[in-house]
Amino acid sequence: MASTLITGIGELTTNTGEKQRDVSVVIENDRIAWIGRGAPEADSRVDIGGRAMLPGWVDSHTHLVFAGDRTAEFEARMAGKPYTAGGISVTVEATRAASDEALADNLALHADEAARQGTTCLETKTGYGLSVEDEERSARIAAAVADEVTFLGAHLVPPGADAESYVDLVCGPMLEAVAPHVRWADVFCETGAFDEAQTDRVLAAASAAGLGLRVHGNQLGEGPGVRLAVQHGAASVDHCTYLSSSDVDALAGSSTVATLLPACDLSTRQPLAPARRLLDAGATVALASNANPGSSYTTSMAFCVATAVLQMGLSIDEAVWAATAGGARALRREDVGYVRAGARADLHVLDAPSVTHLAYRPGVPLTWAVWRRGVLVGS
Ligand code: NIG
Repeated sequence: MASTLITGIGELTTNTGEKQRDVSVVIENDRIAWIGRGAPEADSRVDIGGRAMLPGWVDSHTHLVFAGDRTAEFEARMAGKPYTAGGISVTVEATRAASDEALADNLALHADEAARQGTTCLETKTGYGLSVEDEERSARIAAAVADEVTFLGAHLVPPGADAESYVDLVCGPMLEAVAPHVRWADVFCETGAFDEAQTDRVLAAASAAGLGLRVHGNQLGEGPGVRLAVQHGAASVDHCTYLSSSDVDALAGSSTVATLLPACDLSTRQPLAPARRLLDAGATVALASNANPGSSYTTSMAFCVATAVLQMGLSIDEAVWAATAGGARALRREDVGYVRAGARADLHVLDAPSVTHLAYRPGVPLTWAVWRRGVLVGS
């Protein structure tokens, strides 16, 4: 068994209670074995010099199995053109044309970029294949890299396809083909993507196949996404940019996490999701990057945390919780998102004395060291 003693932790965010100061942590293999004062025996020792340590980010919403580039669409948006679901088809075309190797390399590049910024648990989705063959290979490629994989065949009705026949395909042969590689299924419930009845069908079929559920809902306007997610017992409904009072009440009275994607709201020129309203009502909020080439091309969870504090009314502790334990809740995982004995040794050290610096020094790359499953990232 290999063990590492980490000393000199000036501030430790555990997500299990008050912050701890001047403590040490012992990692044994891929788990946290001990937290406390003192210096127990270990095979190796690292002193982090009074810096802040927190759990690694849990990024519970990304779309990283893709090829191609949508800079032109972004430029047009910044010049005033609205974001629509239609841009997804540009990435679908590029993804279908790419080799398995090119898709795997691109995913690995972005997963590595995220890990070097402190992301230690990564969800990613299919959704740029939209045929049985391309969704299956997207799921297979994702499963080789990501901690959690979501089937998003219901991302867009492919250009030229009949919507109802496509939903039949998603609920039948496509679901069957991807099932061995994925834990979750998701639907983009939005005008221009899938309507209420179609979303309901996909969620019911995925649940019957034994998959956990997630929903893209209320991104571009109010709609049935949040209500359906709660009714189906989804683990998370993501975006939540436009919420009615009954959506907020439904989330507050449920175990469905509201996963907010502030980088996407900014990149698509939407208002920022009503994080404060959700928290004050009692809903559970997670923050995620939504890294994808169209609506949110960033892997930076620190950017999401800074935005949540500077522009969405969250305290730094609420934002850090949402980007770590909140993401774990959205993925229904107990082993990540916390620094506690028995948890996965996913640790993020900032080159700063406290997590407050994440918002106090926005845009500054503060990651100093990252352990993922007990291994120093980049070593
Ligand atoms: O979560 N909203 C749907 N899917 C992605 C965007 C995908 C794209 O534009 O390529 C999202 O924002």
